[in-house]
Amino acid sequence: MPAKVALAGGSGNLGPAVLNQLLDAGFDVTVLSRQSSDKTFDPRAQVAKVDYESLDSLKNALTGQDVVVSTLGVGAVPRDTHLRLIDAAVAAGVKRYIPSEYGCDTTNPQTAKLPVFADKVAVQEHLKKANKESGLSYSLLITGPFLDWGLKVGFLLNLSGPVVTLYDGGERKFNVTTLADVGRGIAGIINNLPETENKTVYVSSTSVSQKQLLALSGKSLETKTVPAIDLEKDAFAELSKPAPNPGVFAPLFIQRAIFGEGFGSQFDSGKLFNESFGLKTVSDDQIRGFFN
Ligand SMILES: NC(=O)c1ccc[n+]([C@@H]2O[C@H](COP(=O)([O-])OP(=O)(O)OC[C@H]3O[C@@H](n4cnc5c(N)ncnc54)[C@H](OP(=O)(O)O)[C@@H]3O)[C@@H](O)[C@H]2O)c1
Repeated sequence: MPAKVALAGGSGNLGPAVLNQLLDAGFDVTVLSRQSSDKTFDPRAQVAKVDYESLDSLKNALTGQDVVVSTLGVGAVPRDTHLRLIDAAVAAGVKRYIPSEYGCDTTNPQTAKLPVFADKVAVQEHLKKANKESGLSYSLLITGPFLDWGLKVGFLLNLSGPVVTLYDGGERKFNVTTLADVGRGIAGIINNLPETENKTVYVSSTSVSQKQLLALSGKSLETKTVPAIDLEKDAFAELSKPAPNPGVFAPLFIQRAIFGEGFGSQFDSGKLFNESFGLKTVSDDQIRGFFN
């Protein structure tokens, strides 16, 4: 019998790629979607309309599921919603919970201290507590920034102006993962439940520097280098305003953790689950394709 997997938030930036990989891996997938949402999903999946404010609604949707995968937005979706989904998984007797991580290494103490990651850290604490008090286990999937998405939106390298900004010289390497490989990482966890129980699991499509990405873009643009600490200073300056804009401070904090030193953005290769999950390193040609 294929594992029964509930996917919460299957319609966002990441969710569709995850849904696709879960279905291709042969799992029996139910997507949880808000009653108000008009999003449509791959017909191979079942859809459960839920009220994220109601523990009962979530518990009903999760009853009979083996695994809950959350790809809910973090920040835009209130912290309480994430915690309620965990409580519902406990109440429904789910075996494994994979929270909405998929980015910077929030188990690194320096990263965990950045305000933008407070909700992810709170979710981790809630999962550890739930694990002690119930049969729910968890896996945290750390992937670094999304490679294809990050190039498309200019998050890893902004090529829109005449001058490209490189942080701390742009030579520091960091791990990146494509949206599809994030999905493969989640499928890998579900196919390896004992090996990934209550663990932080790292996967990555490759590691790159901003300078390498610029070379692969094929563009010869002027560059300027900015200290990565400035990202954090600018983020805190925004946070100190009477009405801070998350659209400004959140990406600055996240870029600080990607491009700065000491945030664990280059993974220890010995910790990668790539091989056991069957992930292949992306080639330079594939990366060139992401710029188009
Ligand atoms: N590493 C990276 O570069 C990177 C980049 C982006 C995101 N991420 C991470 O990936 C995860 C998913 O992020 P995302 O950007 O894909 O999420 P998103 O697009 O903001 O939201 C995902 C889904 O959450 C559902 N949702 C439920 N309640 C909601 C509410 N109150 N408001 C808005 N949406 C609600 C929606 O699905 P329905 O409409 O179907 O209910 C929505 O499509 C997060 O952990 C995020 O930090 C990482």
